[in-house]
Amino acid sequence: MQLNETLALMNGRSVAEHVGKAVRDVLPAIAPTLEPLLARILETGEAALNIELSGETPAQPGITRYWRASYFPLAAEPGHADGIGAIVVEDTPRRHAERALRRSGADYRAIVEQATYGIYRSSLEGRFLKVNPALVAMLGYETEAQVLALQLDRDVYVDPAERARAIAQARPLERVTGVQVQWKRRDGHHITVRLSGRVVRSERGDIKGFEMIAEDVTEQRALERALHQAQKMETIGRLTSGIAHDFNNLLTVILAQGNLMAKALPDGTAELRRDLEELTDAARRGAELVHRLLGFSRHETLDLRPLSAPEWIREELHTLRRLLPASIEIQCDAEPEAGVVDADSGALEQILLNLATNARDAMPEGGTLHLDVRRTRLDAEDRPLHAWVEPGVYVCIAVSDTGVGMDRQTQAHVFEPFFTTKPAGVGTGLGMAMVYGLVKQHTGYVHLYSEVGQGTTVKLYLPLAHEQPLPSGPSGEEEMLPGGTDAILLVEDDPHLRAVAQRLFEKVGYRVFAAADGQEGLTLYRAHTAGVDLVITDMVMPKISGMQLYETIRAAEPPHKRMKVLFTSGYPAADFRQSLDGDPDVAFVTKPWTASELLRQIRQLLEK
Ligand SMILES: Nc1ncnc2c1ncn2[C@@H]1O[C@H](COP(=O)(O)OP(=O)(O)OP(=O)(O)O)[C@@H](O)[C@H]1O
Ligand SMILES: [Mg+2]
Repeated sequence: MQLNETLALMNGRSVAEHVGKAVRDVLPAIAPTLEPLLARILETGEAALNIELSGETPAQPGITRYWRASYFPLAAEPGHADGIGAIVVEDTPRRHAERALRRSGADYRAIVEQATYGIYRSSLEGRFLKVNPALVAMLGYETEAQVLALQLDRDVYVDPAERARAIAQARPLERVTGVQVQWKRRDGHHITVRLSGRVVRSERGDIKGFEMIAEDVTEQRALERALHQAQKMETIGRLTSGIAHDFNNLLTVILAQGNLMAKALPDGTAELRRDLEELTDAARRGAELVHRLLGFSRHETLDLRPLSAPEWIREELHTLRRLLPASIEIQCDAEPEAGVVDADSGALEQILLNLATNARDAMPEGGTLHLDVRRTRLDAEDRPLHAWVEPGVYVCIAVSDTGVGMDRQTQAHVFEPFFTTKPAGVGTGLGMAMVYGLVKQHTGYVHLYSEVGQGTTVKLYLPLAHEQPLPSGPSGEEEMLPGGTDAILLVEDDPHLRAVAQRLFEKVGYRVFAAADGQEGLTLYRAHTAGVDLVITDMVMPKISGMQLYETIRAAEPPHKRMKVLFTSGYPAADFRQSLDGDPDVAFVTKPWTASELLRQIRQLLEK
C-alpha cells in the first residue's frame, strides 16, 4: 500500500513502515471490516463513501479511535479495477464530542429524575406511562410501579369530569399551559395541581397522550385566597368610608336643622315637637352607625399607647361579667408576661365587646366564654392558614365560646360589613367588620376557627410593642421552627388543616401518618403502634372523637410505654382538661394554631 504522511501518522507509524504491507499487517484491528469491503469494491467497481471505522492502532493499544473513509476503485481500464484509493479522515474528536453530548443527555435524564416538579407521560385512556420520582412523591406513593398502576380517572382526579374537560380543551392545541386541576393523593388529601406540557399525537393527528409537568400549587392557591380576602376587605373599607363620610355630612345637617326647628317651634305644638324628636333621634342613630362604619374603614385615628395585654384583659372581666347573663361562665387564662402592645384601649374594648356580644348571641342556652392571652409567633409557614401574615412576635388574645358555631358559608362572610344571620333589628352585621378594621389599624390580624354545634374561637394577633425586650435568643423572628425526625400520627378531619399540618411537619423533618377521622386514626395507630412517637388529634370528629381515640390508646398500652398525645381544639375545653389532669403525656393546642405553637408543643411533649 501507499499512503501519505498524514495517514501514516494517524496510524502512529512512519510512511516507510506501511509501504508494501498488507492491510491486515498494518491495521489488524480494522482488517476484518476493511478486507471484505475492499474485495467488494474491486469486484463491483463501485465506490464506498463515508464508511465509519473504529479500532485500536498498534501505536496506541487500548484507545479506540474513529475514522471516516471513502474508497474509490482505481482502474487502468474502465470496468477493471486493480487498486483502491482511499481518503481517510480522523473522526475521533467528533465522536468524543458526541459522547459528551450523550452524557449531557444523561444529565437531562438526571434533571427529570431530580426535578422538584412532577413530570410524566400519560395515555389518552388515562394511565401514567412514565413518571419521575417527584410525581410519585407528590401523589404520596412510594414506588413508580404503584403510580403506573393507577387509573387517572379513578385514583388521581378528584372529579373525573375535570380530566375529560381538560382533554376536550387540549384537543385543538399543541401545548397545554397552566391548567389547574384537583388531584388526590394516596392518603386522600386533595391537592391543586398546575399542568403544563405537550399534547402527543399520532401521525393522523389523533391525541395519543400527554407529556406534562405537574406543579403542586395547593399552598399557593391558599395564599391567593387569603390575599383575595384581604383585598376584598380593603375595597369594602374604601367604599364604606366614602359613603359614611357623605352620610355623616348629611346627618349633621339634619341634626342641626332639627335642633334649630325645635327651638323655633311655637308653644302648643307638642305633637309636632314629638315628631321632630323622633326625626332627630333617627338621625342620631344613623350618626352612630356611621361612626361604627368609619371605625371599620380605618378613618378614625387611634390613640396608640403601650398597654399590657394580660393586665388589660383582667380589667375588662368586670365589664364582661355585667354584659353577659349568669348562664355564661367566664374563664380567663392570661400569661402574666404575655407582653405589651401598642393599642388604643377604647378600640380594644370595642373589639372585645363585639366578640363577647357575638359569643353571647351564640350561646342562648348558656355556656363558657374563654379568654386567653399569650405571646406567640407567626411565621411564613402560617400563611396558608392565616391570611398574609408578617412574620414576627405577637400577643395573641383568643376569645372562645361554646356556642352554635358557624358553617363554612358564614365563616367566609363574617368580616363583611352588613353580613348578619340575625333577624332585622337585632344585628346590623357590623360587629365583625369593625373588629377586622380595628385590628388592622393596630397592624394586627384576626383569625377565626369555628365548628358548627361546637363553638367558635377568634384570635387577635397584635404585634409586640417595640420597646418590649424579647424573652430569649436574639430575635424571635430568627428562631428556627423546631423539628425532629420522630413519627407523628396526625388525626384531623378538616382536609385543609390536615394538609397544611402534614406539610409543616414534613418540612421540619417529621414522618407523618395522616388520618381523616378517629376511626382511621385508630386503624393507623394499631398498624404502626411501635413506629409512632406522638399522636396529634382533633377533638371533634365524625365516628370516633379525639377523646375516645385517646382512651382507646391508653387502655391498650402498657403503663411504662405511654403514647404522647397532643389535642387540637377550637374551643375552650376546661372540663376536658381537668379530666385529664395528671396525665403528663398530654398537651393542648387551640385552633387556629400557628406553626410555632404547634411545633413547640410537639417538641416539649416529645422531650418530656
Ligand atoms: N361567636 C359566634 N358564634 C357564631 N356565629 C357568629 C359568632 N360571631 C359572629 N357570628 C356570625 O357572624 C355574623 C356576623 O357577625 P357580626 O358581629 O359582624 O354581626 P352581628 O352580630 O350579626 O350584628 P352586630 O354585631 O352588628 O350587632 C353573625 O350574624 C353570626 O352569624
Ligand atoms: Mg355582632
